[in-house]
Amino acid sequence: MSDDVIALESVVKQYGSPPVTAVDDVSLTVRRGELVAIVGPSGSGKSSLLNIMGTLDRADSGLVAVDGHDVAALSDDQLSALRAHRIGFVFQQFHLDEGSAALDNVADGMLYSGATVPDRRARAAEMLDRVGLAKRQDHRPNQLSGGERQRVAIARALVADPPLILADEPTGNLDQHSGAAVVELLHELNASGTAIVVITHDVELAAALPRRVSIRDGRVVGDERGAS
Ligand SMILES: Nc1ncnc2c1ncn2[C@@H]1O[C@H](COP(=O)(O)OP(=O)(O)OP(=O)(O)O)[C@@H](O)[C@H]1O
Ligand SMILES: [Mg+2]
Repeated sequence: MSDDVIALESVVKQYGSPPVTAVDDVSLTVRRGELVAIVGPSGSGKSSLLNIMGTLDRADSGLVAVDGHDVAALSDDQLSALRAHRIGFVFQQFHLDEGSAALDNVADGMLYSGATVPDRRARAAEMLDRVGLAKRQDHRPNQLSGGERQRVAIARALVADPPLILADEPTGNLDQHSGAAVVELLHELNASGTAIVVITHDVELAAALPRRVSIRDGRVVGDERGAS
C-alpha cells in the first residue's frame, strides 16, 4: 500500500484552442490520512487540479498516481473502478438524484462494490446515521435543506469507505451554520483516517486545516503546514 493517496509530478493540463493552461507543472503529494485545503483565486485551476486528482479528467503530461496506481496505465474501465473504490467526491452543487430518497442516493455510492441491494441499503442507513440524518433517509433532496443535502452527498462519498475524499467548495452553497456543520463533519471523517482534499474560498475554513496549498495561474505558489 502506498503512503501517498495522491502523487502528482509535473502535471500539465490545457483546455481549448488557443490553449489555456489550467494546470501548469504541478507536483504535489497527499499522504494517507491528510487533510488539505486548496486555495486560490477564481480561475486559478483548483477544480481542474481536483478533477485530475480524482481521475475525472486526464492530464496532458506528467505523472498521476492514485493510491499507488499510475492512472496513465489504466483503461477507462479500470479508471472507473479505481475511482469507485478509492475516491469519494463532494461538489458545491451536491449532484444528488432528485427523484430518489436520501437512502437510495447514498446506496448508489456503492453501485460498483458488488454488494447486494439490501447490504447497500443497510450500509447507506449507517452512513446517514453517521452524518446525523438517520431520520431523513426517506426524504428526497428537495425535501431537505442545503446543509442536509450536502451531508447526504458526504454520506454517499463515504459509503464505499474510500481512503480519499475530494471536495470542491462543499460549503459554497451553504449558510454559515450549515457550512460549519459540514466542516465539522469533514474534521471527524479525517480524524477516523480518511484523507481529504478540500477546495475552499472560505479563509477561516482553510486557516483551520493542517495544510494549505495555494494555487495561482495553475501553479502551486504555497504549501503551508500547521496553524496559519
Ligand atoms: N472545460 C474547459 N474548457 C476550457 N477552459 C476551461 C475548462 N475548464 C477550465 N477551464 C479554464 O481553466 C482555468 C482554470 O479553471 P478552474 O475551473 O480549474 O478554476 P478554479 O480555480 O476552480 O476557479 P473557481 O474558483 O472559479 O471555481 C480557467 O481559466 C478556465 O476558464
Ligand atoms: Mg472551481
